[in-house]
Formats: sequence, structure tokens, C-alpha cells
Amino acid sequence: MLTNIKDFQSYLDTYQESIDNPEKFWGAVAEAFTWNKKWDSVLEWDFTKPEVKWFQGGKLNITVNCLDRHLPERANQTAIIWEPNDPNEAVVKLTYQELFDKVCQFANVLKNNGITKGDRVCIYMPMVPELCIALLACARIGAVHSVVFAGFSSSSLADRINDASCKLVLTSDGGFRGGKTLALKAIVDEALLDCPSVEKSIVLKRTGEAVTMQPNRDLWWHDEVAKADTHCEAEIMDAEDMLFILYTSGSTGKPKGMVHTCGGYMIYTTYTFKNAFQYKEGEIYWCTADIGWITGHSYIVYGPLAAGATSMMFEGVPSYPDMGRFWQVVEKHAVNIFYTAPTAIRALEKADISYVEKYDLSSLRVLGTVGEPINEEAWHWYDDHIGKGKCPIIDTWWQTETGGFMISPIAGITPTKPTYATLPMPGIQPAVMNENGQELAGNGVEGRLCIKFPWPSMARTIYGNHERFRNTYFSAFENKYFTGDGCKKDEDGYYRITGRVDDVIIVSGHNLGTAEIENVIDEHKEVCETAVVGFPHDVKGHAVYAYVTCYHTPDNEEDLRQEIITLVAKTIGPIAKPEKIQFVSGLPKTRSGKIMRRILRKIAEKDTSNLGDTSTLLDPGVVETIIEGAL
Ligand code: WTA
Repeated sequence: MLTNIKDFQSYLDTYQESIDNPEKFWGAVAEAFTWNKKWDSVLEWDFTKPEVKWFQGGKLNITVNCLDRHLPERANQTAIIWEPNDPNEAVVKLTYQELFDKVCQFANVLKNNGITKGDRVCIYMPMVPELCIALLACARIGAVHSVVFAGFSSSSLADRINDASCKLVLTSDGGFRGGKTLALKAIVDEALLDCPSVEKSIVLKRTGEAVTMQPNRDLWWHDEVAKADTHCEAEIMDAEDMLFILYTSGSTGKPKGMVHTCGGYMIYTTYTFKNAFQYKEGEIYWCTADIGWITGHSYIVYGPLAAGATSMMFEGVPSYPDMGRFWQVVEKHAVNIFYTAPTAIRALEKADISYVEKYDLSSLRVLGTVGEPINEEAWHWYDDHIGKGKCPIIDTWWQTETGGFMISPIAGITPTKPTYATLPMPGIQPAVMNENGQELAGNGVEGRLCIKFPWPSMARTIYGNHERFRNTYFSAFENKYFTGDGCKKDEDGYYRITGRVDDVIIVSGHNLGTAEIENVIDEHKEVCETAVVGFPHDVKGHAVYAYVTCYHTPDNEEDLRQEIITLVAKTIGPIAKPEKIQFVSGLPKTRSGKIMRRILRKIAEKDTSNLGDTSTLLDPGVVETIIEGAL
């Protein structure tokens, strides 16, 4: 059964059932889907290895659940609404029948180009309908997609392609984003100089800009589609077969390819989509995320489509052609459910209120946020000006690793509290831990957030590196999944996520690993050593602060700063650019040579009143000098 939460008491009852007997609970949810063969066992798990298997022995294809099974009832219902970057360009609407045909056709394109079950396909595309089609086409034939956000640089793209040994790259000539165009094919060309596993790339025409097509490697999307049939049987997959890889930043330099599998991911994303938003038949649902991130995978593509919803994709940005774009789009499509990030809300809140007031937002029923903690002011602005005090706000806390919502209100049912993600979804068992590894039971506690029982959509491993998976998530606290986040559980048992407690910084909702940025800056020939931390920023949430030591005093600090910024943008992507770069003569280190980031974080936050114990530092004097020169 997919939904039975009708009021707060039924949420509490459902939650209790899901904890008392998880296998019975998820087994019943799974019955609502189409399987080629039912599972032999609902769950087998061991967090020490770690190994988690849901619905073992079950056979299915997620696209049958997202497409085929809806056709008898909703062939003519809109599945995807696509709103282009330019408000004057035509909207595209694909019915479930049309989406089904296009997915099957593109699945045949993949097959015609030698892709078979288990092959990895990298997708580096703008937010166009073909992106959604590409994901589903891979899933149709059991190929593993690895979407790389189209804002990453060529070297980040190459790293990800090589890590997964992708055989094929799907891209476009370019992409529109606000007033800019991105030369995606040129970036792919540069990346592919260094990617021996890639045999072909298929290029969609979007901007019409000139590109170089390499013979024997590059093919035009439209040529390939013209040759392909629209009939394609779905590959029958094991519940635990790989569905996709999606990279996320980690505490050490290299991004982690999180692996999600077919059965549990499908069930959990669909279940949480239906229940948390309380999605009703026929509603227009808009998640503003990019499909390059987990939010787009789970809550633009898979969850909504498996639930038979109408899901909108937006190609543009909130500020183009002006700061009223989101609200203009809400009015234009009479959007009922709107899901965005706190960083967008903070940016729009700063614009003149007339940008909001110009539009009719009365279609809205539910609002959502994701990606980082929402501050009180932004929460109230969203509630008052967008929801007009009538729309429940669901603050959904989750991660690339968790696949779906973990802690979130049930819209209109869970009483909300500004800045609180509130209560766990059914099946989720959070634990608040202290630094010594003890669980802080009861309410009114604060600590590190862990999860102590498996849920169906959890990542199963890091592609090619299970040991790193174990180390990162299952070694800090015995027999628990460690999220990397800190949290507060108040007197009512409500959870509030306070932010990362590891070396990940969330800038405008994008995860960045400090080590990854440090490694890039260190590559500059004048740079000796770098330490990167996050600091609070009123629109981005957090921004990057880099402390840099050089071999020689820089001749011109400003020039060097610009060179470093360009280097970071070129190597990782513009999202990782440091907001502040402070040149320092030395970094605070312990006697064993470890950089004391805690101190650097405090200085960046301009909170130097209590730096804690600095006596263990090799040279306590450097701290004073850094404080004096702080930006
Ligand atoms: C943060 C995005 C507070 C958190 C789905 C988490 C949040 C990281 C929230 C994962 C929220 C996400 N409130 N913090 N509602 N949602 N986060 O992998 O620090 O891109 O660990 O997944 O974002 O980011 P990721």
C-alpha cells in the first residue's frame, strides 16, 4: 500500500508499524509496484560489512513502473512539462504515451551503439526533456547512468568518466542558462582527450552553436533517433542490480560515486514523494533542482513518474529574465506543489516584492525546501509571501547517499516549526550521538546524526571502492550510518539539522569537499599550502574561504587571487570558486602536522572570542597574524 497517512495520528501509527516490523511494512509498500517476479526476502543487512539487500530475488524494471504500467489509465496525461530558459520559447509537454515512445526509441539508440546491461553511460546535458529521456532509456536496458551536472569543468567530468569507465557520453552542443550559453560539447571534447574507455558520444542539438564532430566517435542525436524503432522490451533487472551512479563530494579529494540499486530506490522515492508532498491525482508538481543532482533524479524523474504525477522540468535560472521568473512560471502552469532550495529563496527574498506580487500564486498548495538548513527569515518569507500563510512548508532533509527524504514533515499533516525538518519518514530510525559514540536518547539533545536501521533507497557502496564506503559512513559510530550532519532534537522530538560536521561545505546547496579545492589551489606554482573552510554567507548559505601560503611573498596579491579563482573554476567548476582568499605566512598546525581547521573556521566566521585550546599548536603565534589579516 502506497498511502495511508491521512492525519497526524495515522502518521504516528504508520511510523510505529514501520519500526516494529520493517519487513512487513516495506513488503506491503512493494506490493503496489509491478514486478516480473516477487522477492524471496525483504531485507538482509549487516552494517559492519556493510551490506544491505532489499527485495532480494525480486525482478523488475523501474521504467515499467514509471511508464508502461501507467499507460492503460494515463496514456494521455502529461508526464513531463518542460519550461524553457527563454520564456518566449514554446513549452514542451510529453504525455505518458509520448514519453514512453521516446524512452523506448532512445533505448534502441543506446543498443544500436553497443550499450548493453551493466555498461556505464555518462550524461552531461542541460535541463531539456531529452535528459529525462536519456536517464530512463539507460534504465530501460539496464545500462547504468552517471549524470554529471553540466556546470562541472572538463577535468571534473573526465575524472568522473574515468572513475566509472564509461563507454558512452550523452551531451549537447551547448546549453542555455539565463543570459549565458555553456559550450558543453567543447567541454566534453576536452575531457575525452583523457578518457580511454569512451567509444562514442551522442550529441543533441540545443543551442545550434558550431561544434566539431569527431568522425568515428561523435554522432548526432537526431540522426540516431531517426534510425531507431520505438519498441523496446524492458530488460529484467534484479532488485539489487545497479540503477545509477551519482558523484558527491567527500572529505578527501576524490568525489565518491554513490551506487543506487533498482528495487529499493524505486519503492522509497515513490513512497516518500506521494506521502511527504501528499501528491493528489492531476496536480502539477515542480521541483526546481537540476537533474544533475540527486534531488532531480529522485524527485523530478523517478519518484514522480513512478507515482504517475505530472512533473515539471525548468531549463533556466530564477533570475532570468528577471527575479520574478519562478513566480511567473508558477502562474503560467498553475503549479500546485513547488520545491526549491533555501539559497534560491534567500536570493529572491532580496529582490523587490513586486516581482512576487505581480503573479497569481493561488494554485500553490504545498511548498518544499531541500539542500541546506533554511534560516528563520527565509522560512517566514516563503511562508508569508509565496504560501500566503496557507501552504504547508516541508523542509526535507536527506542526502545523495540516502536516495530519498529521511526527515521531513508530511505536508499539511505534521505540524511544522520554522527551520525544523521535524520528524522521520516511516522506516527511518535516526540516532543523535555524542562525540564519544554514545547515543543521546530522549528529547532535548544535540549531537551528530546517525541512522541505525537500513531503509530501501540507501546507497549500497561507492563505485569501485567499498572500503571507502565503509570507512566514510560506517566506521565513525558502531553499527550505524553516519550522515556527516549535526542536529538538534528539541523537547518535542523534532529534528533540526544544524549543518555539516565534516569537511564538506554546502555552497548554494551544492556539496563541495574542502580537500578537493585545496588540491587544486596547491597546484598553482606559487602556492605552497592551502587550507579551505566554509563561512556563513547570506545568500549562498556558506561560501569558500581559502587560507593560502606561498613560496615567496606575492608581487601582486590581487593578480594571484584572480589566477587561483580561475584555476578552481576551470578545474572543478564555477560553483567551487573561493569567495575569500587570505595569503598567510603559515597555517596553524598541531605538533603532528595536522592543520587545525576548527581555528581557521572560527576566524572565517569572525568569531575569535573563543578559539579554544591553542596550546597544542606548533607555533601559536601564527593564529594572531592570521586574525590580523582576516578578510
Ligand atoms: C544538507 C541533497 C538541512 C545536509 C538532497 C546533507 C540539508 C547534505 C537539508 C546533502 C535540509 C540537505 N536541511 N540540511 N532540509 N537537505 N541538507 O548530497 O548537510 O547534495 O548532508 O543531497 O545537504 O547534500 P546532497
